[in-house]
Amino acid sequence: MISQAMEKAINTQINKELYSAYYYAAMAAYLDNEGFEGMANFMKAQAHEETEHAQKFYDYINEQGGRVILGAIDQPPVDYDSPKQIFELALKHEKYVTSLIHELVTLALEEKDYATKAFLDWFVTEQVEEEATMESILNKFKIIGDSGHALYMLDAKLGERAPATAAEDDD
Ligand code: FEO
Repeated sequence: MISQAMEKAINTQINKELYSAYYYAAMAAYLDNEGFEGMANFMKAQAHEETEHAQKFYDYINEQGGRVILGAIDQPPVDYDSPKQIFELALKHEKYVTSLIHELVTLALEEKDYATKAFLDWFVTEQVEEEATMESILNKFKIIGDSGHALYMLDAKLGERAPATAAEDDD
């Protein structure tokens, strides 16, 4: 059983994860429209992963006998300056999500809710990976500079990302 405060906080996190999915889907839509299909594919896979994060929180509330309440999802931005700016925003967003996960951990520790703390450990590790992935792509943009050919190659490379499967997501 989790406290009402924890149930509310995790329900809020479900909303944030679903917003993340929506945000990355909006970035994918922009990239598709601009002809960067590979990067769009990467962002679609990222959006898919975010819905899986939301599902993990959803399942956890149910396992703990709580009630999932889904709120409205904010509209993400429509227009972006460039593919590079999109990955800058994605890194900034992942850092924000990391801070939210850390706040949940703080609440769990304050409440001596060790079950939820253990559940959240997966997300703490996942956020390290999420930030590292975005950081690494951003570094490639810095190397590329103004080279159209290199941008084309990066687009092709990012297009190789497949959506995470449930099995991969459980490791
Ligand atoms: Fe669900 Fe990208 O954090």
